[in-house]
Amino acid sequence: MNNAFNESVLDGLKQSYRGKVRNVYEVDNDRLLIISSDRISCFDHILPTLIPEKGKILTRISVFWFNYLKDIMDNHLIATDTKDPVVSKFIGANLMQELKDRIMLVKKAKRMDIECIVRGYLSGSAWKEYQKSGSICGIKLPPGLKESEKLPQVLFTPSTKAQDGQHDINITEKEAEKVVDGLLPGVSGAELVKKVKEKSIKLYKKASEYALSKGIIISDTKFEFGIDNGEIILIDEIFTPDSSRFWDKEKYSSGGAQPNFDKQFVRDYLISINWDKQPPVPELTEDIVRKTRERYIEAERRLCG
Ligand SMILES: Nc1ncnc2c1ncn2[C@@H]1O[C@H](COP(=O)(O)OP(=O)(O)OP(=O)(O)O)[C@@H](O)[C@H]1O
Ligand SMILES: [Mg+2]
Repeated sequence: MNNAFNESVLDGLKQSYRGKVRNVYEVDNDRLLIISSDRISCFDHILPTLIPEKGKILTRISVFWFNYLKDIMDNHLIATDTKDPVVSKFIGANLMQELKDRIMLVKKAKRMDIECIVRGYLSGSAWKEYQKSGSICGIKLPPGLKESEKLPQVLFTPSTKAQDGQHDINITEKEAEKVVDGLLPGVSGAELVKKVKEKSIKLYKKASEYALSKGIIISDTKFEFGIDNGEIILIDEIFTPDSSRFWDKEKYSSGGAQPNFDKQFVRDYLISINWDKQPPVPELTEDIVRKTRERYIEAERRLCG
């Protein structure tokens, strides 16, 4: 499989940030152009292997959800068409096809430097923390819960945002308040966290109800928020297989790991080859690339039709 996408040179635009997955360009003081590559990251490292078309799938899924959920919260999306007049002048004719479905022109926000994680089921780092302490991010849970079990209530479990190679750390709401304090003049960290918590849970409830009707359980997901013109808005990506755990509703059964349409497949592979999670980061085999790609395609097919 070729035609996987990693880097791009845009006419007259400087890349201001290279994320694990996205290349970010500054259009002007108010707007960013975000291009989703086919890179995949796992255990906080960028893998050397690309997943062809993954960036297009992520962009289309995010755009779908931004529209579906805009009654709950405003988001950063301005345009996603490469032919948009603001965007097209930076994209040479040779790149039009390659960048189709990969770009988002967005409002540049002052980012809240926390990951807003919402969980409906017990999995991942929450399952690990629960086994050790019986709680998650300082929230006490009932004893005897099984891996992947539906939680008694939807939880908001923030974490720090770590640099490439560092781990995000689960934090309490109090700690999250300190991180965002001062970001919006006149609004306390406590008020900001209260607001994004309430919105995060609403977004999760509406999206997971929809996804369930399409055969997908959204176990948990991550949002990022930022401030634009004094308002909190939703930024980055939303309810994608990179930012969420998508489980197969038909095959769901608590008490272990779940068949999924997300990155877990790649994590499982990296665990199976005993990678020590330190560089050098191993390549994925052709078979793993193909099966990962199929999972992302299936997630999009079910969610967006
Ligand atoms: N509207 C926005 N305004 C400002 N920053 C944004 C906006 N939307 C997304 N971002 C930031 O752009 C970057 C997107 O790149 P990517 O998702 O690949 O990064 P990442 O490796 O996950 O990095 P990070 O750890 O910083 O999230 C992220 O840092 C994200 O927080
Ligand atoms: Mg990211």
